[in-house]
Amino acid sequence: MCGIIGYLGDDEALSVVTAGLANLEYRGYDSAGVALGDTELTVYKRAGEVDALTEILPESTSHTRGIGHTRWSTHGPPTDANAHPHTDEAGRVAVVHNGIIENYEQLRERLSDRTFTSETDTEVIPHLIAAELDAGKSPKEAVKAAAAQLEGSYAIVVTIAGVDSLFAIREGSPLIIGHAENGTFLGSDVTAFLDHTQQVTYLADGDLAVIDRDGLSVYRNGELVDVAVEELDWEADAAEKGGYDHYMRKEIHEQPRALRQTISGRLDTDRGRVALDIDLPTEYLESLEEIQLVACGTSYYASVYAADLFESLADVRTTVEVASEYEFSTNRDPWRTLVVAVTQSGETADTLSAIRTAARAGARTLAVTNTLGSTITREVDDTVFIRAGPEIGVAATKTFASQVATLALLVVLVGRKRGALSSERATSVLDSLRGLPGAVQQILDREDTVLETAETYADSDAFFFIGRRLGRAVSLEGALKLKEISYDHAEGFPAGELKHGPLALVTENTPVLAVLTDGARPEATLPNVREVQARDAPVIGAVSDTEASALDVTFPVPDLGVMEPLVTNVYWQLFAYHVANLKGRSIDKPRNLAKSVTVE
Ligand code: AGP
Repeated sequence: MCGIIGYLGDDEALSVVTAGLANLEYRGYDSAGVALGDTELTVYKRAGEVDALTEILPESTSHTRGIGHTRWSTHGPPTDANAHPHTDEAGRVAVVHNGIIENYEQLRERLSDRTFTSETDTEVIPHLIAAELDAGKSPKEAVKAAAAQLEGSYAIVVTIAGVDSLFAIREGSPLIIGHAENGTFLGSDVTAFLDHTQQVTYLADGDLAVIDRDGLSVYRNGELVDVAVEELDWEADAAEKGGYDHYMRKEIHEQPRALRQTISGRLDTDRGRVALDIDLPTEYLESLEEIQLVACGTSYYASVYAADLFESLADVRTTVEVASEYEFSTNRDPWRTLVVAVTQSGETADTLSAIRTAARAGARTLAVTNTLGSTITREVDDTVFIRAGPEIGVAATKTFASQVATLALLVVLVGRKRGALSSERATSVLDSLRGLPGAVQQILDREDTVLETAETYADSDAFFFIGRRLGRAVSLEGALKLKEISYDHAEGFPAGELKHGPLALVTENTPVLAVLTDGARPEATLPNVREVQARDAPVIGAVSDTEASALDVTFPVPDLGVMEPLVTNVYWQLFAYHVANLKGRSIDKPRNLAKSVTVE
């Protein structure tokens, strides 16, 4: 989705802003632009990739203030005219915007004496600000008055000719300030400026930020307020490729480290307990009737995995809801229902909408997210961070693993407090979690075998992923990964469902990838494997017991109890990656997709 970078400081803004745009490319976009200037503004914008924009940019300028944007089209197709920044008629005010202005048609009517040059909802904003400036307001008051007329969600950054400041305001869309020796930065996420600083300030909804040569001032309800500067603990190179061809492959290989961070300091294996620093009182958990996990995409499949664990280990009814379909049923007791939003970005509009529905109904809410300061963390009663580090590839990989591991910790916490989980059983789950990083590393060390398998089967007609219980979640996720980056037809099924219809699709040219590990009922899945083999389909199986083979390809999985299917997923990630890579796909930025989906 759209990305924002803004800079005011000592360095040449052009290079800072274009580097920021390159860092934001991972979010998914279809046009890009920058506005630079001091007493006069110049806007450069173009449909297509940042490289296309670079062709029309000057080599250097003397300007030290600039804004930039990557646009993911909502209102109007990806054209030069619809790209941001947008300006007023005189080119005095330039604006970049993330989000959607819901009342833009009424505002356009109100501004009918002004000439519009795009089809976007955004363009009303510079016109509104210009109108307020024309009416005699100061730049800060003009931005504030314009924002007061907007309905919808927005993060807006404004530069005005002849005013040596940047102005920013947010409502519902994230906006983060970065503080560095060489200036002050604005970003829709920290990756925009992570190579300059890890000192950040998260703006809250309604905040108006003014950045000038003295730094940052934030106004809340019209009053100047003190804001916290927080230190990120992301490594400076965390958002770089570090020698890998693609972020996705780098992030697959980062999983052992990410998982170590996820569990670090949270396990008390001896006593079978976990520490998560959240407020879930024992009496509340004892009376809990249901946990609802709400999420989208990969986060949904991580939730499917966790739901099985909640039911079997914490003895609590657990449902998994696709966030865009979520409703709080009136036959549920909100006081006895815990609603957990699982979201890597913390900005997914469907998940935010679901959690708001749950909160309105009176349910206690919890977020499981990767992103400090994200919108979801402000909307829920409590948050558990998965600590996977930045994930740039559109296809979620390490965050899936860290989400499942974090949710497993939550399962142990809930199970223990409810008295449903013995310390011995809890200790065995925690041992599995402790063994995860090493087990994942063993799979990564076998990447060559996965590459060979990908070479053998890349040109197949379709791919089917099957598994039971925890293996079902991994099959759904494996199929999603393959389809989103290879553009091949891939589907995941509970293994037992195959014979109820999908089996009609199975041929000698549709490989079946089966989870045959502990936690996935391998003894029940093996007959389904034999069914597809009888239809000549090649079978690639991940197995913890190699005797269960007679498969075309056998991927061994180390002994790890309920975490074995999660380890299997690393094979499926590598398989998806190599099939897509052999086909020359745009792996980190698959067509039509965005890293964080901020529209419903
Ligand atoms: C998965 O590879 C996709 N990027 C997508 O399904 C993603 O998991 C989904 O959009 C949810 O995102 P979130 O975790 O940031 O809420």
